[in-house]
Amino acid sequence: MTTIFTRPALMAALIALTGVAHAETAGDATKGAALFATHCSECHSVKEGKDKKGPSLYGILGAKAALREGFKYSDALKSSQIVWNAETLSRYAAAPRAVVPGGKMKYDGLADAAERADLIAYLAAQGKR
Ligand code: HEC
Repeated sequence: MTTIFTRPALMAALIALTGVAHAETAGDATKGAALFATHCSECHSVKEGKDKKGPSLYGILGAKAALREGFKYSDALKSSQIVWNAETLSRYAAAPRAVVPGGKMKYDGLADAAERADLIAYLAAQGKR
């Protein structure tokens, strides 16, 4: 009898687990593009070499912080030692001033973790430095 019940239970657990992992990791780049337009494009472009109030975010995934030549970064970001990956980007987008105290990104933060994942999926598709 037990085996009859164990299998569906295991399947349910696996489905639940993959569901959670999916929600946390895989963002939707199309939604991310719209979020970028609303929240970030006032200050950032994803075009290579195009700085606005903030630096170009072309190829930002995998890059070290504050590396755009010619952009006047804060000393705080320059000395932060951050490497931009999904985790650091998500934390920074959620609370820029908490992650880089004294930094000059004047943005309150994107509270919704799923929206941050979408945004990161979009940024990850914008080239490689
Ligand atoms: C009001 C302008 C403004 C908005 C809005 C803004 N940023 Fe920024 N961002 C900046 C500035 C200015 C800097 C440089 C910060 C520093 O030097 O401390 C920056 C830096 C960054 C960096 C570090 C870049 C590097 O070269 O290391 C990332 C990543 C970033 N912003 C992502 C975002 C994302 C994602 C959004 C939207 C959710 C966003 N920013 C919204 C102005 C802005």
